[in-house]
Amino acid sequence: MHNLLKSETILNVDGLVKSFAGRVVVNEVNLEVPEACSFGYLGPNGAGKTTLMRVILGLTPKDKGTVRIGGLDAFGNRREALSQVGAIIEEPRFHKNITALANLEIMAAARGGDAYKRISESLDMVELLNYAKVKVGTYSMGMRQRLGIAACLLGDPKLLLLDEPMNGLDPAGMNALRDLIQRLVEEGRSVLLSSHLLDEVQKTCQYVAILDDGKVVIQGALNDIIAGGNTDVLIECNDPQAAFSLLANDKRILNCHIDDAGISYSVATDTDARQQTGEANRLLVENQITVYGIIRSSESLEKRFLELTKKLGEQTFGNA
Ligand SMILES: Nc1ncnc2c1ncn2[C@@H]1O[C@H](COP(=O)(O)OP(=O)(O)O)[C@@H](O)[C@H]1O
Ligand SMILES: [Mg+2]
Repeated sequence: MHNLLKSETILNVDGLVKSFAGRVVVNEVNLEVPEACSFGYLGPNGAGKTTLMRVILGLTPKDKGTVRIGGLDAFGNRREALSQVGAIIEEPRFHKNITALANLEIMAAARGGDAYKRISESLDMVELLNYAKVKVGTYSMGMRQRLGIAACLLGDPKLLLLDEPMNGLDPAGMNALRDLIQRLVEEGRSVLLSSHLLDEVQKTCQYVAILDDGKVVIQGALNDIIAGGNTDVLIECNDPQAAFSLLANDKRILNCHIDDAGISYSVATDTDARQQTGEANRLLVENQITVYGIIRSSESLEKRFLELTKKLGEQTFGNA
C-alpha cells in the first residue's frame, strides 16, 4: 500500500456499498487508483465488477460511500468529476454502415469543445488511422474495442473505465489492447479495467485489486502482491524419500509432497525461499543425495488469487 501513497490518486473509492434486493454486491469497497497506471479490478463473474463501474459513473445509485475523481466528489460534483472520465461499460456501439471516422465525427459534434480536433490523434493512438475510412461493420471485435477507446479519448480523459475489455478478443486483439493500455498510461492516463482473466490482468496491469464476495481482499502493486504470496519449490533428486526425511524439521516448509522425481513444497515468502533452497541444497548434497535441479516459482497472480480467496480457478474463472 505504501506505493499507492507516493503518487497522486486519480480515483478514490471509499466505503462503497451497493445491494440488489438485500444482497450486497459491492461490499465496503475501497480503491485507490494512482495517476498514470493500469489497474485491474479482478474477480469472477457476478463479483460486482460492472456494478462498481456503473455506480462510479452514477448509472446505478449507491447505497453508501464516496467516490472522488481527481479529488472531485463524483456524486456531489458529478458533471465536473465525470468530465475527466471515459468509459466503456458494455460493448461499444457504433453505426455499422458508416466509417469509423464518420462515427467519431458524429460523436465529436455531440460532445463539442475540442473533441473534433482530437479525432485523428485518437485514431492514431488506437492504431486505426489506416482504417478510419472503412465501415465499422467490417471491423473485428478487437478493432471495435479500440475504436471505443478512441471515442473515449475524444474527451481527453484522465481516467478510463473499461469493463471486461479483453472479453471476446483473440490473442492478437489482446496484444494490441495491452500495448494500447500501456501507451495510454505513458501519456499519463489511468486505466481501471475489470476482468475475470487472471493471466491477462497479470500481463496488463501494474496494480490490482482482488475481489471475493464483493469485497476487496487485497490491492496494491502487482509485484508486491505476487511477492507476498507463497513460493513453490520443486527439488528433483535421486532419493526423494531421504530428502524428505532430511528436510522434515525445516519449519519454513509448508505442504511438502513427495513423488518419484523429487519433493515439492511451499515457502511463505520469496526472500525466505531463496535462502531456504540454498540451505536445503547444501544439506542434501552433504548427505550424498544427488540434486538434479531446484525450481522456485512465485510469479503467478493466479496462485496468489487462490491463496487469498480459496476459490478454485476452473470453477470461478471459466469463460464468461
Ligand atoms: N440491476 C440489477 N438488479 C438486480 N441484480 C443485479 C443488477 N445488476 C447486477 N445484479 C446482480 O449483481 C451481481 C453482480 O453483478 P455484476 O456487477 O454484473 O457482476 P460482474 O460484472 O462482476 O460479473 C450479480 O449477481 C447480478 O445478477
Ligand atoms: Mg460484468
